[in-house]
Amino acid sequence: MIGHDDTDRAPAQRVDPMPTIDPAAGLDPTLLNAARVAKGFMPDDEGLALAKAALEVASLGPLLEIGTYCGKSSLYLAGPAREAGTVVFTIDHHHGSEEMQAGWEHHDSSLIDEHTGRMDSSVEFRRTIADAGVSDVVIGIIGDSPKVARHWNTPLSLVFIDGAHSYEPALADYLGWSPHVVPGGYLVFHDVFEDPDLGGQGPWQVYCEAISSGVFSPVRTVGSMRILVRSDGPTR
Ligand SMILES: C[S@@+](CC[C@H](N)C(=O)[O-])C[C@H]1O[C@@H](n2cnc3c(N)ncnc32)[C@H](O)[C@@H]1O
Repeated sequence: MIGHDDTDRAPAQRVDPMPTIDPAAGLDPTLLNAARVAKGFMPDDEGLALAKAALEVASLGPLLEIGTYCGKSSLYLAGPAREAGTVVFTIDHHHGSEEMQAGWEHHDSSLIDEHTGRMDSSVEFRRTIADAGVSDVVIGIIGDSPKVARHWNTPLSLVFIDGAHSYEPALADYLGWSPHVVPGGYLVFHDVFEDPDLGGQGPWQVYCEAISSGVFSPVRTVGSMRILVRSDGPTR
């Protein structure tokens, strides 16, 4: 701030004692609360399962998610990343999936950018991350996921696929990103519904392809979240 000196300073804030870390998920209570109240599409039990998975493998390298939206799932990944001394890359073009466009089920008119007239979740994402105090750990990448994947070269401990949910884009995310998961690392799919009455079949079909590849095997399922481990040596 220009002309700032000590006399301008706000009264000292009360300093809370160090929050305890939930050993199951690597999230301190403040960060967990921020994740819970953030705008987005991540039920808490699935978010905690994601955090627990991240904590298990984050020592192997950075984490990456496809489908940032407003940063809710990024917060569940941020605690484990910080614990392990690594980072979370999170990719989104921020223009929303089909079901988020005007007239569709998950449209949020507060996310329309008046300048372009298009949906843009990037501002809300930056606020979410800044307010939670994890800007040093969460690195947003704005772009089309398969295009970013074509230029990617960093091994990853965990890839979380939560972008577009129809078959072709989910397959493109899987094919583009799964080769970057290190052996012993995790591939995580969200919104996997075996029963078509419960949800779209794209993630389920791609999940089945990942299993039948022989490269990934199931670790656990929590709600619609499926966690797989990479069990082979060389990349596909
Ligand atoms: C279901 S939302 C993600 C929800 C988020 N993980 C959460 O916790 O709330 C899916 C997101 O994927 C993004 N998306 C869809 N297709 C994409 C693509 N090809 N490249 C990058 N992002 C994409 C959309 O813009 C949308 O924000």
